[in-house]
Amino acid sequence: MNRARNDPIWKRIRTVLVPIMGEGVEIFFPETWSERYLSWYKEIEMNAFRPALTYSREEIEERLEKESVLMMFILNAGVPEGLVLGYRLEASTDDIFYLDTIAVKQKGRGIGKAILNVMFEWAKKMGFSSVQLDTEQENEIGILLCNFYQKLGFKIIYTDEETGNITMELTL
Ligand SMILES: CC(C)(COP(=O)(O)OP(=O)(O)OC[C@H]1O[C@@H](n2cnc3c(N)ncnc32)[C@H](O)[C@@H]1OP(=O)(O)O)[C@@H](O)C(=O)NCCC(=O)NCCS
Repeated sequence: MNRARNDPIWKRIRTVLVPIMGEGVEIFFPETWSERYLSWYKEIEMNAFRPALTYSREEIEERLEKESVLMMFILNAGVPEGLVLGYRLEASTDDIFYLDTIAVKQKGRGIGKAILNVMFEWAKKMGFSSVQLDTEQENEIGILLCNFYQKLGFKIIYTDEETGNITMELTL
């Protein structure tokens, strides 16, 4: 897990986040999984998603077994504030990085955008040709999530009318 943790590129996230969150901000990559990190994950998730969209311990741990896993936490003065979970998409022959989850506690302050823009640079450097994700048309309070991703350059590649799931892709 997190073989990419030592890449100097990640320092750029902190540089962008310090003016927004303060000097206590830290980017943290666990080397091995533990109960502590699971509790961080659950805390951020609980703040960001409705219960139906949250993962069980098994669902998280299953994802952490995947190829090229990136499991990043944003901490502020040691308090978990955000997370990113992604990995190489197995089903494809192309080198696609799958962005499984991004969540921040303080929404709308530019934190999500700052994290993802650096992550895209990293993914490109790692040789990935694109980033893919699945999202909902809108969340339960009518917020259009795909607008957030479209602003970052993602395009819709598939819409499932039945489930409301939207698959989006960003070419790197
Ligand atoms: C989705 C999420 C990660 C976005 O991060 P954020 O820090 O709130 O977003 P930012 O403040 O960086 O916003 C970046 C841009 O997107 C826009 N934006 C953010 N959320 C948006 C939304 N839901 N709908 C439309 N636009 C949105 C912002 O206005 C901003 O635009 P600008 O660059 O023109 O100013 C965050 O809101 C979150 O954690 N949500 C709950 C969990 C979730 O739904 N995750 C995504 C599915 S895995």
